Amino acid sequence: MSSGCRICGGKLHEFLDMGKQPSANGFIDPAETSDEFQFRLALGTCVGCGMVQLVEEVPQERRYHENYRYHASGSVLHRRHFENEAGRLLGAELNGSDPFIVEIGCNDGVLLSTVAEAGIRHLGVDPSTNVVELARSRGVRAVTEFFDAGLGESLRDEHGHADVIFGANTICHIAHIDSLFRGVDALLAPSGVFVFEEPYLGTVLDHKAFDQIYDEHVFYFGVASVAAMAERFGFELVDVERTPLHGGEIRYTLARRGARSVRDSVGALLAEEQAAGITDPGTWRRFGLEIDNIREELTRLLRRLSSEGRRVVGYGAPGKTSTVTNYCGIDSDLLPFVCDSTRSKQGLLIPGSHIPVLPPEAFSNPYPDYALMFAWNHADEIMAKESEFTASGGHWIRYVPEVRID
Ligand code: TMP
Ligand code: ZN
Repeated sequence: MSSGCRICGGKLHEFLDMGKQPSANGFIDPAETSDEFQFRLALGTCVGCGMVQLVEEVPQERRYHENYRYHASGSVLHRRHFENEAGRLLGAELNGSDPFIVEIGCNDGVLLSTVAEAGIRHLGVDPSTNVVELARSRGVRAVTEFFDAGLGESLRDEHGHADVIFGANTICHIAHIDSLFRGVDALLAPSGVFVFEEPYLGTVLDHKAFDQIYDEHVFYFGVASVAAMAERFGFELVDVERTPLHGGEIRYTLARRGARSVRDSVGALLAEEQAAGITDPGTWRRFGLEIDNIREELTRLLRRLSSEGRRVVGYGAPGKTSTVTNYCGIDSDLLPFVCDSTRSKQGLLIPGSHIPVLPPEAFSNPYPDYALMFAWNHADEIMAKESEFTASGGHWIRYVPEVRID
């Protein structure tokens, strides 16, 4: 399936192989653990356009369906962030008397619910029925579809042009990105903006956040590679801003070529990327060695604690937990369970490593000696909520950017 770059057709230079892995959000029923789906989790850079991407991919129907387990409204941090983002778009980007906002990958309506409350015409597009139903229950208009060229055209015919097309943690999941851009081209108003906020390659590198690498993240965007992608499809990257979710993302603003002036932020981040050698093969070879070290240290620590009779459990079952446990070979002998507040994940097993997911109440019943923090991007919120754990002598274990006991 490694047939070259999904954007320009260039050759992929593979630099990281994390072995056979399942689909990270493919939580499984304890009764159905045989014949589990696997693919080779490997990353490469395109020698033509510089985009870092998966070498092999998991079909999108296997990733997004009627039981998509990730609910974007699951944290206070996320809800506040998207309320602010909706407010910013409503304040700055709407034109005419009847503006229109489209969100690709609206999930449970975490952003569009604010747009709906403001009485602004909008439409969410998401392939997962269960999250679309949650969005509708919050007053959001949404359709269950994959966004592509055909859908962009039919939405324009039905609703007219959009002032804003938005995506958060979605655009980097879409392998058919050429078709997506044709759809955006059809739907977006001449003066409109295509805004998306996605995990940042620079953050993966700086935080050694190898657990951001999993099947749903088909592309690993950087400023240089997004600028090249925009240009290829007739757009221009006019603004970039660092945003705090998922450990540090970037919000990209694209406009039609020549429609807006390019902000200084773009040049500034491009210069930072060059200085960090973000596309140098040597940088990623070092990254591979560093994450090998993390794997060794973490598994050594867990084995030692286990041999000393300490109880260790995991906290949080984001997609990241699948990558870490499967890459490091952590199973339910080393980590009897992880707890997570998402109801639809509870009672199921982490894909591949088959560690049970229990409700947060299991955490305090009784508290373990150590807790491995998988949802590290929500650490402040979780540690505040679980302050009794540390007060009673418990310790948090972190593994990025290094293995550390707090
Ligand atoms: P994310 O890193 O992809 O946003 O996923 C975070 C996961 O952590 C999600 O499955 C929900 C879970 N979680 C908790 O279990 N408790 C919490 O307090 C928070 C904020 C998240
Ligand atoms: Zn390419």
